[in-house]
Amino acid sequence: MTNGFLISFEGPDGAGKTTVLEQVIPRLQELFHQDIIATREPGGVDIAEKIRDIILDVNHTAMDAKTELLLYIAARRQHLVEKILPNLENEAIVLVDRFIDSSVAYQGYGRGLEVDDITWLNAYATDHRQPDLTVYLDVTSELGLERISKSVNREVNRLDLEKLEMHQKVRQGYLTLLEENAERIALIDASQPVNMVVDDVLAAIIKKYKELKHV
Ligand code: TYD
Repeated sequence: MTNGFLISFEGPDGAGKTTVLEQVIPRLQELFHQDIIATREPGGVDIAEKIRDIILDVNHTAMDAKTELLLYIAARRQHLVEKILPNLENEAIVLVDRFIDSSVAYQGYGRGLEVDDITWLNAYATDHRQPDLTVYLDVTSELGLERISKSVNREVNRLDLEKLEMHQKVRQGYLTLLEENAERIALIDASQPVNMVVDDVLAAIIKKYKELKHV
């Protein structure tokens, strides 16, 4: 068991994870004396970033759904071993932009792969290490897609080209995960103005931290 605190950030595309994370990090640095490490999936370390390039390449239209899943899982394993676990050992607070639930929501509910297989593969790749807290930023698919279409700086990747239906399935997947993991996953209404979303996220983190560390 490690002493750090692992928080994953999840949500459908266009939920605003990146913006929210950018604002949450400095606030956490003021509140906590531990190191705050922010990282992302797929990626976070060299090998996993290379796998990310393969997965998200717009030219890879022939990619099979199971190949895609296994690449995400492989990237996750490397990221966990090389970056997440060592930082948790050092008692850091590790914030990861997407983790195990993304595979279930996107490859399971979105692409229709067997959720039980993904759950097992996630457990295998992570040695059953679950986040201490998962912050789930919820938006309707219509709002998520509208935000994506308005954001000019964001790189458009292969997965952004998927249709509304895929986004809806992904969101449904997240809502199902939320129901099944109510202890671990905090629901945040990400349709609110960003400062309110950030406040809600901080409140959820502080609550869970107090619960786990008995402070
Ligand atoms: P990214 O540009 O990081 O999107 P976002 O800013 O929305 O997180 O691209 C990551 C994409 O990969 C995103 O569309 C979700 C998808 N994804 C999966 O489908 N499965 C996974 O296991 C992970 C980690 C990500």
